[in-house]
Amino acid sequence: MFLARAPRYSPQLRASYLEISNYLRRSRRPALNRTFYAQSSPLRAPQSGQSTHEQSPVEKNASTASSVLANFKKSIEFPSPTYDFETFLTKAEPGQQVVLQGYVGNRRELSSKLAFVRLTDPTMKYSVQLVSTKKSGSFAALKAVRAHSPVVIKGTVQRKQAKDAEMAEKDPWEIVLDEVQALNEFPKDIVMTGDHVHPPKHRHLQLRSSSELRDALRFRAEARNVCRQALEQSRPAFVEIETPLLFKSTPEGAREFLVPSRKRGLAYALPQSPQQYKQILMASGIPRYYQFARCFRDEDLRADRQPEFTQLDLEMSFASGTDVMEVVEGVIRRLWSTLMPEPAPSGPFRRMPYQTAMSRYGSDKPDTRYGMEISRIDYLLPVDLVRKITPLDNPVVEVFKLEGNDNDPAATQEFITNFLDSPEGAPFNENSDGGPGIFVVDARKPLSGLQPFGFEAAEHLENSLGIEHGDLVVIQARPQNSLTGGSTALGNLRRALHAAAVAGGFKPAVPGFEFMWVVDFPLFTPAAEDSAEEPGQGGAAGFSATHHPFTAPKTAADVDLLTSADPTQATADHYDLVVNGVELGGGSRRIHDAAVQEFVFREVLRMPDHRIADFAHLLDALRAGCPPHAGFALGFDRLVAVMLGRESVRDVIAFPKMGKTGEDPMVKAPSPISEEAAKIYHLAVKESA
Ligand code: AMO
Repeated sequence: MFLARAPRYSPQLRASYLEISNYLRRSRRPALNRTFYAQSSPLRAPQSGQSTHEQSPVEKNASTASSVLANFKKSIEFPSPTYDFETFLTKAEPGQQVVLQGYVGNRRELSSKLAFVRLTDPTMKYSVQLVSTKKSGSFAALKAVRAHSPVVIKGTVQRKQAKDAEMAEKDPWEIVLDEVQALNEFPKDIVMTGDHVHPPKHRHLQLRSSSELRDALRFRAEARNVCRQALEQSRPAFVEIETPLLFKSTPEGAREFLVPSRKRGLAYALPQSPQQYKQILMASGIPRYYQFARCFRDEDLRADRQPEFTQLDLEMSFASGTDVMEVVEGVIRRLWSTLMPEPAPSGPFRRMPYQTAMSRYGSDKPDTRYGMEISRIDYLLPVDLVRKITPLDNPVVEVFKLEGNDNDPAATQEFITNFLDSPEGAPFNENSDGGPGIFVVDARKPLSGLQPFGFEAAEHLENSLGIEHGDLVVIQARPQNSLTGGSTALGNLRRALHAAAVAGGFKPAVPGFEFMWVVDFPLFTPAAEDSAEEPGQGGAAGFSATHHPFTAPKTAADVDLLTSADPTQATADHYDLVVNGVELGGGSRRIHDAAVQEFVFREVLRMPDHRIADFAHLLDALRAGCPPHAGFALGFDRLVAVMLGRESVRDVIAFPKMGKTGEDPMVKAPSPISEEAAKIYHLAVKESA
């Protein structure tokens, strides 16, 4: 059993807290008790006969505490500002009396009578110069305020002397300071220089010192408003509906978080997505639903994954997947035309079947901006070469080309060697199907360095890939029929090599956004080897639903495949929105017929009775004449990260989880279960083996 730790505060905070609490405890006790308390306390009160001209520690504590409380009392009441800064900067006039709030910067003392300081507004976007003169009486008061402290000031506006017209326009005003009231103190022990890196446990300081992070949060809020407008203005309008966060455990696909309840042995589960509730809404006469939904999945963290994240979730009844894709394209276009420098491309987004994405890019979320297309060449390769690169019998061998920089084989060789030696590159050599075969094209060598391919294959590569001096040719083997899941080893290598080439300056970054729908996913995917990571539906079929078990087969022929010997041949009416190699969202047309849904659970996925019973609510809703429906969820954190060009969703989330297992380092969650809580929730924590 873990026991809860006592909270740890900073020493400074703890000292102030102790002073106040000692002071309060003493002042609340009757006089007799107070004497007793003071005498029995390690901080002793003055003894009789002892000199009283020097303060005892108790008195010192009391006087510090009373000054802390007196300062706090002063900070409770403060005047409202005459303007927010944005308005101030447009409405200011010389001679105007103003009250402004904000944070003071570093004070520059020009003489014993004159000092300047910048006042930054509460949004930290604007600032204005304050002029403090001995004459105005604010000089000493300002001197006592430490930089970064929050203040309210009163003063008189005057035009600032500017070096040139540009400065006069950019920073036209200054304020002669009459009064400054500190509203709190910025402590000495917090470093706030521009280049200081604050640890994740001080997220408030990361946010406060980084306009980029704060701007990302503002941008996120704007993006949310734009999405709302787009959906609420469409006809018929989408209705925003909140669905419960205290849900129940169901085998939808991902690993869940449980929330123990006070009823012995009963727990809620946090929703992986509002999927089941939104389908129930379709059976409830709500034809168009949307929600900014918090979702929870107990997965290992990655740059694009958080255990707690937000989806823009929607569902439409009497609708097909095509109807949903049109609505989503409308939202994306509105976002791009409102918030981005370049609008999203006009016309319907390109659609690419899953099999094409996997065979040409080795990924179900391909970045199509930079070529490096994959093609199959095993039928051309000498057996010797194949044996060198793989232990597999009769493998598929695929190839792509990375264009070299400046037709310089030496530079290409250096780039690829560094990559394969780096932590990003090393795992590719450890592939049990064999590592990649790497060839640098060098026109000075026999067959341009492609001699191991033999004449025929080398000539084919030269013609089909258009290879030139200094290019890189990469080949990789994989087993036959292995185009399942999210990517192939060569697809991952293509992506990693391109990212490393851009990061290392070997290739320029590719601008722009290429949106596409990846469609025609297989309805089912072989069960993951690590079922703890992706538990699926827990059926005995040896495969699980690729998207989720509510996704409909695409055509009548795919419905027939459900009853065939191999249902994994069925294609789903499932569509993913992909941009620049990022899966922004996913959706599907649903099975709206209760009997068919139950058939998929029971006969196709071969789920046990008790797990099917977990979906009784959904089956009941479908049975009540539920109309056909389809929907989609946009990963909102990923969307904002992509729009802002951020590598990680953490950079667009106010309080992200960190580390592999998703701690919140600031509040230190998850935290140990106290004995008291364990009792209330009927929990016992086993000692680990
Ligand atoms: P799906 O599981 O594809 O579909 O999720 C939709 C989108 O949500 C985002 N996403 C995540 N973002 C951050 N961290 C995570 N751990 C995470 N997991 C998913 C992705 C993803 O494309 N109920 C269905 C939607 C539907 O069918 O309507 C669903 O949740 O951008």
